[in-house]
Amino acid sequence: MRCLLTFLLLLGLAGPAVAADRFHPGDIWPDDQGVHINAHGGGVLFHEGTYYWFGEHKVAGRGGNSAQVGVSCYSSQDLYNWKNEGIALKVDDDPTSEIRRGCIIERPKVIYNERDKRFVMWFHLEHHGKGYATARTAVAISSQMTGPYQFHRSYRPNAGKWPVGFDEDEATDDQVGLLKRDHLGGQMSRDMTVFVDDDGRAYHIGSAEENYTLHISLLTADYLDFTGKFVRIFPGGHNEAPAICKHDGKYWLIASGCTGWDPNEARSYVADSMSGPWKPLGNPCRGPHPSGGMGPERTWGGQSTFILPVHGRPGAFIAMFDVWRPRNPIDGRYLWLPVSFEDGRILVTHPGPWSLDDLDAVTNAVSP
Ligand code: DGJ
Repeated sequence: MRCLLTFLLLLGLAGPAVAADRFHPGDIWPDDQGVHINAHGGGVLFHEGTYYWFGEHKVAGRGGNSAQVGVSCYSSQDLYNWKNEGIALKVDDDPTSEIRRGCIIERPKVIYNERDKRFVMWFHLEHHGKGYATARTAVAISSQMTGPYQFHRSYRPNAGKWPVGFDEDEATDDQVGLLKRDHLGGQMSRDMTVFVDDDGRAYHIGSAEENYTLHISLLTADYLDFTGKFVRIFPGGHNEAPAICKHDGKYWLIASGCTGWDPNEARSYVADSMSGPWKPLGNPCRGPHPSGGMGPERTWGGQSTFILPVHGRPGAFIAMFDVWRPRNPIDGRYLWLPVSFEDGRILVTHPGPWSLDDLDAVTNAVSP
């Protein structure tokens, strides 16, 4: 019976959903048409009273992780109920296009450029037919939140630049070989996110150096290019799926290890400045899986994608994780979980169904 309902929800044949007033982590999440939300590896932007969720549009079957459609957009007033706003960035059928149908588009994130009154979408791009060898980050632009976004360009970031404070001649350790290899052509960029600080500066955080090392790069004032200022964090640390927030004047980063579509143990870090130094804080996930699934040592089966600030509730954040289903990617699930800060650490729990009204109780009940 449960399988039949899942099947109908994936196809959108179960009818419009009843209004939700809770998060149900890991369950099918019906949109306003009763169809399971299709916005994987995504991020959320709050703008003029509405939340907008952008993510990878997946299709059914083993090929469903390649971009057959584009980047989806959904809108919500309350974070529980989402309206499908359609495809914000469409793939292209022109075989010369960088976003040709069948390429890989992952982890799209939209930021708003207040100065230019423009919405800027960054995403991880792998060219059609090249597997994950392209390792580029790309940017698209729209004057409307929901799109259509126009592809602008892709990058191997920071070509010809060294990280801030890096001395090419003095760097002798074995962690700089990949950095030096990609110095002239530009650094690799796979899993990524973008973050706008309170001062309007925007940063790109990406897995570089064959996924061994995260790079945090300052973007230009129009958010469309790299300034060439960047730092490496955790050389050799193998961090993917970066997600970041700012709280209490500090920057908090959650990431995963690198095990493809399989879950692994999350990691967290804190810094006083985007350029570091970043202090490792260990696994932020705490407590059992409420229905007996994988525990916090494997991120309850999920992988980080975004840390969402709840509007109007200072200090309230939701950690967004994806539960990937590589054999049928359209059936991938979402773990939206409460975040708390305790004793200088960022913590995430999996309380089962929960609502924003539970936030204080849920986060105060965190056990070591
Ligand atoms: C893990 C990444 O986090 C995903 O975005 C995706 O690139 C998969 N690896 C591919 O195996």
